[in-house]
Amino acid sequence: MKTQVAIIGAGPSGLLLGQLLYQNGIDNVILERKSGEYVLSRIRAGVLEHTTVQGLEKAGAAERMHREGLVHEGVELVFNHQHIRVDFEKEIGKHVVVYGQTEVTRDLMDARAATGGITVYEAQDVALHDIDGNQPYVTYTHNGETHRLDCDFIAGCDGFHGVSRQSIPADVLKTYERVYPFGWLGLLSDTPPVSEELIYAKHPNGFALCSQRSTTRSRYYLQVPLSDTVEDWSDERFWAELKNRLPPAYAARLITGPSLEKSIAPLRSFVSEPMRYHALFLAGDAAHIVPPTGAKGLNLAAGDVQCLADAFADYYGNGSSAGIDGYSERCMKRVWAAERFSWYMTKLLHTFPDGDEFEEKMQQAEFNQLKLTEHAAKLLAENYVGLPY
Ligand code: APR
Ligand code: PHB
Repeated sequence: MKTQVAIIGAGPSGLLLGQLLYQNGIDNVILERKSGEYVLSRIRAGVLEHTTVQGLEKAGAAERMHREGLVHEGVELVFNHQHIRVDFEKEIGKHVVVYGQTEVTRDLMDARAATGGITVYEAQDVALHDIDGNQPYVTYTHNGETHRLDCDFIAGCDGFHGVSRQSIPADVLKTYERVYPFGWLGLLSDTPPVSEELIYAKHPNGFALCSQRSTTRSRYYLQVPLSDTVEDWSDERFWAELKNRLPPAYAARLITGPSLEKSIAPLRSFVSEPMRYHALFLAGDAAHIVPPTGAKGLNLAAGDVQCLADAFADYYGNGSSAGIDGYSERCMKRVWAAERFSWYMTKLLHTFPDGDEFEEKMQQAEFNQLKLTEHAAKLLAENYVGLPY
């Protein structure tokens, strides 16, 4: 098989890139290790920045999101039961759209099926070859047979544990990492959200987040020690601890119900630079991870692939290599800005097991600043709704 761009991974990065390339008349094939059902079973954040919405529009996959997505004009932050609402519209005249990543993925899969794009699911043993030469290609096995995919470029959209980043020589990559000493226990339930807007709450016992997927489906999170397992947390224990960490007025109106899903995720900041090595371009989680506290993961991925699609369109349409040569540098500015914001939100709102009273006072002072100075709230709003890519 031959194509212009071989895309490794059918998560949101790979699928969005595939559709953006299709819209520009650029042929592409996606190779995904798992099945389509498995990809759709992964539950992740669901806050879309304006530029992510634009990306889905350009990809022809925004119709249901516009119909069903919930426009959020602000967010609530709670610090030891003191509240502050950051009003995005007032501060910077923008909003975010709450729409689950699973739904984004489903819409992109449907758009791809409608345009006849090839996605090979359950492609095993994907290996990248000759990425620093003139004729890169990818090999994989499918249904027991080995295949070869020749291409001009390879887009590594295969997440943190994928093969793409690992195919770059170690002495070329510089990596940066911060692992946080706690995880998030998430619970999904068919119960109406406790509030119309998201609530990020800090409590001496740890962080809590009230999020949502729709007006009838909620997603809640609790900061838990990394040594905890899902079995340690019955639904009853989860709801009791969530109520404990929320201000009493919210605790009183929280509607609980059986969990549809519960899982624990570790929190990590990670960046590998550069995002390009000859014919290979990394995008999304393959190149960087953020802790979920700012809901930036999907949005960073969407920004990367929009840059990459623009770069390939310029290359194939105008014969210019400027976009592909500038890809890594262009992405990195936004990546580091989002890394900073996610780290800031994580530090502000969690209880650190090794933290002392001084750290606590710094968190409180930081939170007070959001209340006291308009500039601080504006800066938070600007970062939350997303910086331009
Ligand atoms: N070969 C083929 N596919 C692979 C391989 C491999 N060796 N390794 C991983 N994959 C696939 C995974 O199965 C997954 O479907 O690559 C895909 C990567 O998808 P994601 O992990 O969702 O990463 P990405 O598309 O960059 O999306 C970023 O996902 O993790 C969240 O917070 C993150 O919301 C952000 C978004
Ligand atoms: C979610 O809805 O899963 C979610 C929302 C906001 C975050 C993280 C996760 O910051």
